[in-house]
Amino acid sequence: MSIDFTFGGRVKVPLIVAPMFLTSNPPMAIAACSRGVIGSYPAHATRTREVFADWLVETEEGLSKLENPAPYAVNLVVHPTNERYPGDLELCAKHKVPVILTSKGAPEDAFDRIHEWGGVAFHDVASARHAEKAVEAGADAVIAVCAGAGGHTGTINPFALVNEIREVTDKPIILAGGMSTGRDILAAQAMGASMGYFGTRFIATEECLADENQQRVMIECSAKDVFFSAALDGAPANWLRPTLIEAGLNPDEIPAYSAGMSVINPKKMDGRYTRIKSAGHGVGMIKSVERTADLCDQIIKEYHAAKRDFAATLASPERSLSTASLETSE
Ligand SMILES: Cc1cc2nc3c(=O)[nH]c(=O)nc-3n(C[C@H](O)[C@H](O)[C@H](O)COP(=O)(O)O)c2cc1C
Repeated sequence: MSIDFTFGGRVKVPLIVAPMFLTSNPPMAIAACSRGVIGSYPAHATRTREVFADWLVETEEGLSKLENPAPYAVNLVVHPTNERYPGDLELCAKHKVPVILTSKGAPEDAFDRIHEWGGVAFHDVASARHAEKAVEAGADAVIAVCAGAGGHTGTINPFALVNEIREVTDKPIILAGGMSTGRDILAAQAMGASMGYFGTRFIATEECLADENQQRVMIECSAKDVFFSAALDGAPANWLRPTLIEAGLNPDEIPAYSAGMSVINPKKMDGRYTRIKSAGHGVGMIKSVERTADLCDQIIKEYHAAKRDFAATLASPERSLSTASLETSE
């Protein structure tokens, strides 16, 4: 099955606002969809299935009031350790959620079920091996989560990861990690990706669940303030250094990796764990808190400006270093 990434012309820029735990919610997703960008949230961000059901109804009601909105997406952790997964999947089936962003595991039956109701499944991967397994199991596209991403991050450079994935599959690739401008989406397309996937950039939006303090810290931070460690919750992740310090932790004493166990047991942290915040390398592009719709419009504008600029670069040898160097070497 080949995918129309414009979803019948409803997606105006090849971008998904990525699902973020304790951050994404229906108002943010609806606002993104209203501007022609795919909005999303994780099912596990809701405390119970009843709340998840309410979120789906709220999303559908919100979208029904809009003219030609982009489709929305839900993130499902499709792994046996997620007890809610089978029931949440069935709820998505009931609502015929158009796009499912699957993460962890890659069970064939989940992809089959999603296809049964006419949905598409994009699966999170951090290596070519993960991509191969996901595609074999039936994923329609892979989300290449590269080094520098917010939340649980990949560790591989985007050029290297995209090239390696291309060697194992010709399924579409969606690029994630440190991306924050319209120009970045065009660059991803030049690398052969079909869409961009932005998380961090959208934490500083009015609709989402992030609190003012977190958003203020994000405005003050840049890439140098992003601290990588797999030792805090057991998976490779990027954290905002000032939030670690504010929670009484010393980043200089936290190793990047620790054998098997988290060095810091969340249960022993007296609630400090909920105060540490994650963000990716793109945090430096956040200058203010904006409405989600305005941010989408800005990114769409940047994307079209970048396209015009790059077309001019390709057409004009004196603007293009690569063309100039080709001519010299001939
Ligand atoms: C605060 C935060 C929470 C996240 N929670 C989730 C999640 O629940 N599920 C998921 O699949 N990805 C999650 N992610 C990862 C994003 O979906 C996405 O892969 C990542 O944000 C892309 O990189 P970027 O932040 O550099 O744009 C989270 C990211 C952040 C920053």
